[in-house]
Order: sequence, then structure tokens, then C-alpha cells
Amino acid sequence: MRSVIDIVDLTAAEIDGLIATAEDIIANPAKYSEKCRGKKLATLFFEPSTRTRLSFEAAMYELGGNVLGFASADSSSATKGETVPDTVRVVGCYADIIAMRHPKEGAPLAASMYSPVPIINAGDGGHSHPTQTLADLLTIKREKGRLSDLTVGFCGDLKFGRTVHSLVKALLRYEGIKLVFISPDELRVPDYIRDELESAGADWLETASLEQAMPELDILYMTRVQKERFFNEADYIRLKDSYILTADKMALGKSDMCVLHPLPRVNEIPMEIDEDSRACYFKQVKNGKYMRMALILKLLEVE
Ligand code: CP
Repeated sequence: MRSVIDIVDLTAAEIDGLIATAEDIIANPAKYSEKCRGKKLATLFFEPSTRTRLSFEAAMYELGGNVLGFASADSSSATKGETVPDTVRVVGCYADIIAMRHPKEGAPLAASMYSPVPIINAGDGGHSHPTQTLADLLTIKREKGRLSDLTVGFCGDLKFGRTVHSLVKALLRYEGIKLVFISPDELRVPDYIRDELESAGADWLETASLEQAMPELDILYMTRVQKERFFNEADYIRLKDSYILTADKMALGKSDMCVLHPLPRVNEIPMEIDEDSRACYFKQVKNGKYMRMALILKLLEVE
């Protein structure tokens, strides 16, 4: 039995395999419609979500399986003091696989130590979000035709943005990747990610200027400033609109640049940008469902 808590729990070859499966699902959905008949996925979301929870649920339904779970800690016995280990030991009696989101970093890892069924980390605090990274990688592969030889800019809240941390770790395993981190000083990537960049010998730089970075980017990964992770509302208000991707800024980018965003967005990408052919964030949402289907099949060892 295997859980996925961090993106590096999957080898690069396994990620290539998941991408191949997802592309086959896209091409031949009927072939997969009964693969998980009789199986159940539990979605245990102790923190809000739209995309991740619903795409996991849609993924399991499209595989012919069933879904149970809760969408907030308030509607679970966590409010009565039940621990994460006890919760997953109980839910493991009802379901074959669990997708868990939790505000505390490390909670899905703790769950995986006690669960009788595989745990998938669906986002833990400001730490990591491996299945969002699977969605991001499939989108990059489909839009650019490759996962190597790319200059990738990450813009916004790089301190608390768990999707950034996971995607950086994944990209470090591919050749010819240059990473450009665009953020205010207070929201720079955390030290543990810098340590990973250094030990991997990565080609990376930091800047506060989106305008300066824009012309060299193949991928622009925009992020929301994570209000829920701030201790001080005044700091959030001061930083929340640090980067707004206006049409003027888009004009500085390559004609084949690809704009990603894990969503939800707040102000950082105005709706007018959605009409730009380089805006790929809604394709990214759909790709997330296919990669989660591929991951469920893999962890349930369905042929
Ligand atoms: N990208 C993402 O994790 O979105 P949700 O918070 O809506 O799941």
C-alpha cells in the first residue's frame, strides 16, 4: 500500500506514466468508466476547497467508483476532539482510498502512518499540494510539448503558496529548467525550498519586478496572496495586490508563453486576461481531474 504525501514520493518516471495514463483517459474515456466499480474514495477536507475536492470526486465517479466524505472540519467529529490518526483509521473501514486536506502542515503524513488505506495529500497548510503539481505538469506538457528546457516564473505569494513549493520540487528533476521567483520581500520562497534549489544546483533567481522577468518566461505561474496564512490582516492588505497581470504586462510576454494559476484567483488575474490564448488556467483545472483519475488507478493498483 502506498500513499502520496509529497510530489517526490513519485519518481519522474512514475509521473511520466501518470501523464501517459491521463492522456489516454482524455482520448478514450469509455475505456476507464468501470475501472473502479465497487471502490470508494473518501474526501476528508478539514479546510475549504472547490477544485481539489470536486475534481477528486468527479475523478472517482468517472472511473465508476463511489465517493463519501466531508467538506469541512465542522461537519466531522474533529469538532469533538477526534484526532487525525483516529479519523483515518475509522474512514479506512469504509473507503479504499482517502484524499485529505488539512490546515496543519504534516497532517496527511501523520494520517498515512495510521491509515489502513492509501492517503493522498490534497494540500497541507502552506507546505505542499502534490496533486495540483500533477495538474500543472500535465498542462505544461500539453501546452509546451515538454517538461524540460523551460524558463518558469512564479509570481505572488511564494512563501505560503504550497502549489509553488510542490511544483518547484517536481521541476528540479527535469533538464534545462530555469526558475524565476517574483515576489515582494516578505513573500519570498521559504528557506527549505532555497536549500533544495542549492543542493540541486538549480538555475534560479529572485526579483520583485514582474515586468523585468516577463520577456524571458515560457511559463508564468501566478498565485494568490494566501490571506488565511497571515497572522496580521494589515500585512495581508498591504501585500494582497502586489502583482496584477494586466494586458500591458501580458504584452511584455512571449507570444507562446503559458499562464498558469492553481486558482482560486482574487485580483491577480483580471477576467479580461481569460480571453488571451496564453491563459491556460481553466485547462489546468480540467487536467487536474484526469491526473487524479490516473493517480487513483495507480494507488489502487487497478490494471
Ligand atoms: N487549486 C486548489 O487547490 O484549489 P481549491 O483550494 O479550490 O481546491
